[in-house]
Amino acid sequence: MFVFKAAVVGAGTMGGEIAQTIASAEIPVVLKDVEQQFVDQGLAKARSLWQGRVDQGKLEADELERKLGLITGATDYDGFGDVDFVVEAVPERIEVKQTVFAELDEVTPGHAILASNTSSLSITEMGQVTSRADKVVGFHFFYPASVMRLIEVIEGDDTSLETAQAAAGFAQAIRKLPIRCAEAPGFVVNRILNSSVAEIWRYQEETGGDIKQIDQAVADAKAAPMGPFLLTDLLGLDTVLHVAEYLREAYGDRFYVHRRMQELVAGGDLGAKTGRGFYEHG
Ligand SMILES: NC(=O)c1ccc[n+]([C@@H]2O[C@H](COP(=O)([O-])OP(=O)(O)OC[C@H]3O[C@@H](n4cnc5c(N)ncnc54)[C@H](O)[C@@H]3O)[C@@H](O)[C@H]2O)c1
Repeated sequence: MFVFKAAVVGAGTMGGEIAQTIASAEIPVVLKDVEQQFVDQGLAKARSLWQGRVDQGKLEADELERKLGLITGATDYDGFGDVDFVVEAVPERIEVKQTVFAELDEVTPGHAILASNTSSLSITEMGQVTSRADKVVGFHFFYPASVMRLIEVIEGDDTSLETAQAAAGFAQAIRKLPIRCAEAPGFVVNRILNSSVAEIWRYQEETGGDIKQIDQAVADAKAAPMGPFLLTDLLGLDTVLHVAEYLREAYGDRFYVHRRMQELVAGGDLGAKTGRGFYEHG
């Protein structure tokens, strides 16, 4: 299946970069959010990524404007009538996603594939609110989506083989590396990542360890590009907390829910996107 036009729903931490990634492959894409200010933030993110390439001398300034022109910002579904592939990137709550999937089922052509960037939730449950569960699939990018090459293609109970293959093909068309995986909580990457990070969270709370020192030690050891607390701030505390809670529920105390993270989320401190999390962000 060839994707002539795509759409991304949700222009937050992930959505703006996903739209930029799709447009970088010369595929027109609609970027929708609920308010214009969020759409604008997503478009600004896309612009800044291409601006970085202009600054490095790898992209002409007029090419930046042309590529940006491939992304159409929207707060409604008007531009969805001729899309072939949609990536949903709204908050990690099943009721929010199901509302969006039911809407997408109404506004997109019958052949369109409806994909979710969910980090952990059930693709089957998203498909159930549509009339095309066979065309609903997980399509899980990693942060930062413009850089990280992997995409998990997740098959729900009703996802057809054709849909999974088309999603893997689309991943390659936007220069990513797809891996196909089953619908297990955390899929592959978050299950592995969270099992090690959970140990660090647990250790920090058991010992009262200094968050900055722990992050520094992880970075110094070159165990990861950055420590788990700074990474959590960049990913969004609400998203990370939802995944941690889901894994804990699914697999028990092999996983851990960091109490301070719960308090921060309850207080509205979600990391870089709100200006404060474990760290202050300018
Ligand atoms: N943050 C990460 O590192 C990361 C990595 C991989 C996958 N994900 C997944 O991607 C999804 C989005 O995460 P995020 O971090 O970008 O969240 P985010 O909170 O940064 O952005 C979500 C955006 O969706 C918008 N939104 C909410 N309801 C909407 C609706 N009905 N229609 C259109 N837009 C709507 C919000 O206004 C917001 O701009 C989640 O499922 C998350 O698990 C996140």
